[in-house]
Parts: sequence; structure tokens; C-alpha cells
Amino acid sequence: MFSRGANVFRFGISFRSFLTSSKHSPKVAVLGASGGIGQPLSLLLKQSPLISQLSLYDIAHVKGVAADLSHIETQAQVTAHLGPGELAECLSGANVVIIPAGMPRKPGMTRDDLFNTNASIVAELIDSCAKNCPKAMICIITNPVNSTVPIAAEILKRHNVYDPKRLFGVTTLDVVRSNTFIAQAKDLAVRKVSCPVIGGHSGITILPVISQCSPHVSFPQVEYTTFMCNFILNKIFIQRYHRVHNMKNKFHE
Ligand SMILES: NC(=O)c1ccc[n+]([C@@H]2O[C@H](COP(=O)([O-])OP(=O)(O)OC[C@H]3O[C@@H](n4cnc5c(N)ncnc54)[C@H](O)[C@@H]3O)[C@@H](O)[C@H]2O)c1
Repeated sequence: MFSRGANVFRFGISFRSFLTSSKHSPKVAVLGASGGIGQPLSLLLKQSPLISQLSLYDIAHVKGVAADLSHIETQAQVTAHLGPGELAECLSGANVVIIPAGMPRKPGMTRDDLFNTNASIVAELIDSCAKNCPKAMICIITNPVNSTVPIAAEILKRHNVYDPKRLFGVTTLDVVRSNTFIAQAKDLAVRKVSCPVIGGHSGITILPVISQCSPHVSFPQVEYTTFMCNFILNKIFIQRYHRVHNMKNKFHE
């Protein structure tokens, strides 16, 4: 999820001195800014020279998070908004809204198990977006992304402000994972690997298009199956791949 953000983080400080005007820079709102995703995401955004205002919203701890970030010497002005009573103010005039609010997966859960809790959180937040920043680009991180994005679309339609070009499900995680796993499997420099991923952001809907990978890579069927299975189960991949690989090496020895 952070690949592009990480670039902003890395280059932000050296580019800072080139920036003199925040006149046309956007206001970005992060909803769920105190969480495991929200905090590092807000930190990365604070590094960006492209942002003039960073409005952080959460139902807990957001004042402290915002205070810490506001001390970083970059141009974005940080504001904190705690609880539903301050949501409208957070969203008013926002050009970009990023939503990582909601429950994360616990061990053994699929992204779909989060539906009941997170669907209503996203629905409420989008309702407020429709009222307070109807033209904003809205990026949804909250899982299950395959479902929270269509829910958001329906709510925006209800308010007559739906624009498919302005609503995004954030699945960059699948791309960075794909690049990393391929680089590890093929012993390539990870910075040089770029594999497009199509489909959704849940289990078998995540589909790295290995035939389109740059540089070109190929997996014998057994490796490919292992790759795909473990891509879905992500963390286990590395261990299993090496186990299969080691077994194969032993077999060839
Ligand atoms: N799309 C992706 O690639 C991706 C990657 C990682 C995590 N996620 C998803 O992001 C979500 C957040 O994960 P996390 O690890 O940050 O969880 P977390 O529990 O650490 O943080 C969630 C935050 O949301 C806040 N929150 C809860 N209800 C809220 C509401 N109604 N309004 C505003 N804020 C609210 C909580 O107070 C908390 O600060 C999860 O659904 C997780 O599955 C998606």
C-alpha cells in the first residue's frame, strides 16, 4: 500500500526547498488517522510537498497523532478532528479523502469477515463525504475493499454525486507484494521488478499478471501454483517457497 507513499517520503525532504507556494495544493483528509494504517499513512502524507492541508479524523487518539505530525517541518498544515461532531469540518473543502477507518483482520479471518463492522463505518463516512466534499477523490483502504467500494458508490449515487473517476479502492499492497515475491523467487533486484495486478483485493480475486511482468519471468507450473497459492496467503509464501525450492534443489543434488 505504501510504495508510492514511500517515494514521497524519500524524496519529500530534498524537494521541500523547491516549494514556495501552497496556493493550488490540495487539502487531504484521512479518516481513521490514528490506526495502524492511518498513522504511517498520515506521516507519509505530511512529507509530501504537494499537500497544503492534512486533516486527520478518528474516533480516538487523533489529537495526539496530529500534534506529533504538526511538528514536522513540511508545509502541510495538520488539523485534528475527533468524533462524528467534527467530521464535517474535517471534510469541508477536501480534494482527496483517504479512508483506512475500521477493523483490521485478526488471525484466521478473511477480508470478507470484516464486512459487517466495516461496511457501516464506510457507509457513514461516505455519507458525510457526499455532503461535505462531493467532488473529492475518495480512496478506500478499509477492507473488504471489494465490497466497501461498491457500498461507497451506492451512497454517492443516492446523493447524486457519484463519479466513477473519483472513487478508488486502494490495492497497491497487492502490487508491491507481487513485485517483492517475484523478486525474491527469482533473485532479482526488487526495484527493477514491475508486475501488474488485476482483479480485486480479496483472496483469489487478486491476480498478478506474471506474463506481463517486467523483466520477463516465468514459473514452471509447480512453482507458479505455489506462488499463486501463497500470494493469497501472503506471509506464508516466503517460507513455503523456500521449502519447495530447497526440496527441489535437494532432489537435483
Ligand atoms: N487496502 C489495503 O491494502 C489494506 C491494507 C492494510 C489494511 N487494510 C484495512 O484498513 C483498515 C484499517 O486497518 P488498521 O490496521 O489501520 O486498523 P486499526 O484498528 O489499527 O485502525 C483503525 C482505526 O479506525 C478508527 N475507526 C474505527 N471506527 C471509526 C469510525 N467510525 N470513524 C473513524 N475512524 C474509525 C479506529 O479508531 C482506529 O484508529 C482495516 O479494514 C484493514 O483491513 C487495507
